Amino acid sequence: MDPTNKPKGNSPHYSLYQREVFKRGGTEGELPHFSVHPDELVESTKKKLSDRGYFYANSNAGLGWTDRANREAFYRWRIIPRMLVDTNVRDLSIELFGHRIPAPILFAPIGINKLYSPEGELIPAKIAGELGLPYCLSTASSNSIEDVAVANDAGAHDIAPANNYCKVRDGSEAKSPRFFQLYMGHDDDVTISLLERAWKGGFDVCMLTVDTWQLGWRPTDINLANYVFYYPPGTTGNEVGASDPVFMRKYGHELKRDSGKWIDSSVWHGKAHTWEKMPWLIKQWKRISGGRPFVIKGIQSAEDARKAYAIGCEGIVVTNHAGRQVDGAVGSLEVLPEIVDAVGDKMKIIFDSGVRTGSDVFKALALGAHAVQVGRLYIWGMAHEGEAGCRHVMKSLLADLDITMTVAGYASITRDVTRDALKYNESGSYPNGEHAKL
Ligand code: FNR
Repeated sequence: MDPTNKPKGNSPHYSLYQREVFKRGGTEGELPHFSVHPDELVESTKKKLSDRGYFYANSNAGLGWTDRANREAFYRWRIIPRMLVDTNVRDLSIELFGHRIPAPILFAPIGINKLYSPEGELIPAKIAGELGLPYCLSTASSNSIEDVAVANDAGAHDIAPANNYCKVRDGSEAKSPRFFQLYMGHDDDVTISLLERAWKGGFDVCMLTVDTWQLGWRPTDINLANYVFYYPPGTTGNEVGASDPVFMRKYGHELKRDSGKWIDSSVWHGKAHTWEKMPWLIKQWKRISGGRPFVIKGIQSAEDARKAYAIGCEGIVVTNHAGRQVDGAVGSLEVLPEIVDAVGDKMKIIFDSGVRTGSDVFKALALGAHAVQVGRLYIWGMAHEGEAGCRHVMKSLLADLDITMTVAGYASITRDVTRDALKYNESGSYPNGEHAKL
């Protein structure tokens, strides 16, 4: 049995992964095959992937200033360590939309995972299942909704104790929670079909992305004309559409002629939806799912957070899409406190953009997020060693968080990790790291 999955108290002692790594090195001479230091990890990813894969993962909008602002915001908040605190039984677990999950970390929706490993999304879905953490599937994925559901269940099945956290549907087997990220086109029949498939596949939270009707201007992708959907045979990234009965009935013949048909009409079509359309969508999701949560991803202002609450969302994702959409924008962590003050007691706040370490997770939670998502970290891991690489990166992040709690003197995420745990440093300027290398 994997020691990191043996619960002591409410969550596994993820810190034991550190001992496992040290022991494998000390007794068997087996070292990790790549560095999990985030700056080194992104650097070595460059050697593992083609230019297209590397730049798709790492391109930012414009000059990359928003990406930098994301990291800068983390740098400015500092953790105040507390001593002689009983941290022997830590509790990293949280409740999210009826799921009890062992740590406050979700796998962010990331499209076209076949760019990083031949099995694509099947890998992170499986690892999320193993860890009992929510996996959020992208509409732009390179595997079908149904196949990803099977992979996620297989992971959850492999490691039973994690499953104990994850029951939400009456009468169903224990499953790892999974969410569906919707990119919404302008054909409502296709939207409904996607939601129905997601629900049937056991995805029980709908997360609508509202910051990417149109891809941001990303010079390092422009340079390579880096858009795999247009490259013959043109299948990578079309899988959700090509496996959709409604889309194929209506547009299958066009997809045969034009490999961009799915992405251009149903994913990044360039035509924004507005708040007026949201009640319709929420109603459809509630009808299909029997009332399960609806979340808007892409919120960066307190005013939009209030609107999301007013129209009936159960949660929001405070994110700027990892700095890939608007260049020169506010850092996502920078706006988190005001958004928490506006709606944090009324709805769930999931935070992402720039999370790289356990202390980053800690800071976002201390500022009032209920959970965080990580994106680039897990695809960097996958890019190195597929399943093993993704697992290593995620277990390292969990160990880092657990150890941060231990050494900083905070035992419980929900009870102890509050704003009092942080101090703001006005003048901090983030040193050049991964961004400088793009
Ligand atoms: C993304 N993101 C994203 N978001 C989404 O809603 N649907 C998607 O298909 C994708 N695809 C995607 C691809 C790549 C390569 C990246 C880097 C990001 C955004 C993602 O869900 C998340 O918001 C950020 O990745 C979080 O920031 P970090 O953890 O990557 O810094």
